Amino acid sequence: MEHSRVTILILSLMISIFQLQLHSSHAIPNQDVSYMKFVHNATDLSTKEEYDYIIIGGGTAGCPLATTLSSKFSVLVLERGSDPNKYPFVLNELGLFNVFTAGDDGKNPSQRFISEDGVENIRGRVLGGGSMVNAGFYSRGHREFFESAGVDWDMELVEKAYEWVEETVVSQPILNAWQSTFRSSLLESGVVPDNGFDLRHLVGTKTGGSIFDNIGNRHGAVEFLNKANTTNIKVAIEATVQRILFSGLSANGVLYSDSKGKLHKAFIRKKGEIILSAGAIGSPQLLLLSGIGPKSYLSSLKLPLVLHQPYVGQSMSDNPRFGTYFILPFPVLPSSAKAVGILQDNIYIQSIASLLPILIPPIFSFLPPGATSIDPSLVVLIGKFSEVHSEGSLRLNSSTDVKRSPIVRFNYYSHPDDLGRCVKGVRKIGDLLKTKTMEKIKTQNLEDNKGFEFLGVPLPENLGNVSAVEEYCKKTVSTYWHYHGGCVVGKVVDGNYKVIGIKNLRIVDGSTFSESPGTNPMATLMMLGRYVGLKLLQQRSNLN
Ligand SMILES: Cc1cc2nc3c(=O)[nH]c(=O)nc-3n(C[C@H](O)[C@H](O)[C@H](O)COP(=O)(O)OP(=O)(O)OC[C@H]3O[C@@H](n4cnc5c(N)ncnc54)[C@H](O)[C@@H]3O)c2cc1C
Ligand SMILES: *[C@@H]1O[C@H](CO)[C@@H](O)[C@H](O)[C@H]1NC(C)=O
Ligand SMILES: *[C@@H]1O[C@H](CO)[C@@H](O)[C@H](O)[C@H]1NC(C)=O
Ligand SMILES: *[C@@H]1O[C@H](CO)[C@@H](O)[C@H](O)[C@H]1NC(C)=O
Ligand SMILES: *[C@@H]1O[C@H](CO)[C@@H](O)[C@H](O)[C@H]1NC(C)=O
Repeated sequence: MEHSRVTILILSLMISIFQLQLHSSHAIPNQDVSYMKFVHNATDLSTKEEYDYIIIGGGTAGCPLATTLSSKFSVLVLERGSDPNKYPFVLNELGLFNVFTAGDDGKNPSQRFISEDGVENIRGRVLGGGSMVNAGFYSRGHREFFESAGVDWDMELVEKAYEWVEETVVSQPILNAWQSTFRSSLLESGVVPDNGFDLRHLVGTKTGGSIFDNIGNRHGAVEFLNKANTTNIKVAIEATVQRILFSGLSANGVLYSDSKGKLHKAFIRKKGEIILSAGAIGSPQLLLLSGIGPKSYLSSLKLPLVLHQPYVGQSMSDNPRFGTYFILPFPVLPSSAKAVGILQDNIYIQSIASLLPILIPPIFSFLPPGATSIDPSLVVLIGKFSEVHSEGSLRLNSSTDVKRSPIVRFNYYSHPDDLGRCVKGVRKIGDLLKTKTMEKIKTQNLEDNKGFEFLGVPLPENLGNVSAVEEYCKKTVSTYWHYHGGCVVGKVVDGNYKVIGIKNLRIVDGSTFSESPGTNPMATLMMLGRYVGLKLLQQRSNLN
């Protein structure tokens, strides 16, 4: 007994040291980086070029989309961030810690923002987008998402697109001790059946996929680029798109700046298109800056109007995170989410261990004395739910500087339905804590430290008291980083992701979602990039 604890302690120490090394070393773990052959510094691109497709944002959806289109057409990807290999910590699961503590000097792969609700949040700013800085959990979209997205899905093509994604970036994780414990307690608390390992969305408990392989290497969206037709694709990094250019109501080019501030233009050929994949914050921001948005709002900012579009920047939504943080009586190995409990009404419970500073907003603020930032005994049980009815909006903070983050408000829990779901989820976490598996851990005795030491606001003592749990939900609200909306299907884009009222312009990313798909959205965002790419190839081969 004593022996195994000492071993765990030593392992945790080694991992902490490894984390520090990852932060400072320049070694590139063994990811396939052959895509770097066609990645260029924007400063090296000429000031006027032509392509069939220009994709704004080389992120989670943008990379698979670009790769797919490059099989037949010339493609330019414009990404404001840099090369992920410049930041070794994003390339391994153990570096996840650094994503949240790296600060924000304008050059890091993650950009911090605080919504007007006061909740700290993060956006990807690197080639590969959010998939390079996220927690890596991979799980397909839920049935209701496909039924309500406003899209006439070709479900066979959806299946093919998911499979293409999965063979490139997804691994079956081996659960470490903590993830197994968490999984067992889900089952014990009645989150059944046990669905084993499955990438599909199934009620019950399952192990999901991960873009971290079993030595912890991240396989983010950049790796789709390895499948591109190298003669047809060009990726420009540190290429910040300022606005989309139009001829009347047809998009025909983009204006972007390189890291030296020099302006470049790129145009599309006949039958070509511009596709916005700048994410749920970036895409509505760029539409507004380009003159597509509410007329009176744009004129108040003196932005020239291209099209009056009242819904741009509306329906911004974030899935609130609820949960509890505690210190175990012994250290555990770090792990991001690998298992999930899916309750009947699409409420989800996951757990992360030893990577704690991520989850405590604001960072470091309420750790008790003695608990360090990388406390290897810290674990969290967290939850979210799918159908978020509270909505907010986005507006610009600068009408000239695209680098200035827009102002976002999500209005968490402004709709009473959301509180009801949180209450159910928190109660389930209460059930988990009472399972035999958890009780056994609580009574393990290390230096007289019995039981869990809870951090932050404690769970209400009486989880049967609805108003006490509601209060807890509101007081502890934070983000799962699954914010979406701003350019939703049926309002800003049609069922083919084309911007309504504009020619040659599409949006393919999380800004089009009125609901975040599945337990975690990355799988479906990657699928969507591939899916829309395949659809476009089909349509053009039918035309020719
Ligand atoms: C900390 C964190 C943890 C998460 N954990 C998970 C998880 O475990 N599982 C999961 O499924 N999901 C997770 N997510 C959510 C998921 O990663 C995101 O929803 C997803 O990556 C968003 O994809 P996207 O294609 O919509 O946008 P992004 O991937 O953000 O892509 C947008 C890209 O556009 C670029 N861009 C923006 N503006 C401009 C401009 N003006 N010019 C040029 N380029 C521009 C950005 O730099 C970015 O690269 C997490 C997210 C975060 C932040
Ligand atoms: C691109 O070139 C500029 C100017 O030489 C330089 O400052 C910048 O660091 C380069 N960026 C990358 C990603 O190499
Ligand atoms: C790549 O694109 C070029 C030009 O369109 C084409 O000739 C070539 O066959 C393509 N290669 C592959 C492997 O598809
Ligand atoms: C707008 O940007 C400025 C400068 O970055 C910042 O100080 C301010 O807080 C922002 N406003 C809002 C409402 O976020
Ligand atoms: C339920 O919680 C509320 C809010 O904390 C409290 O005011 C009330 O007294 C509690 N009711 C019972 C029956 O405990």
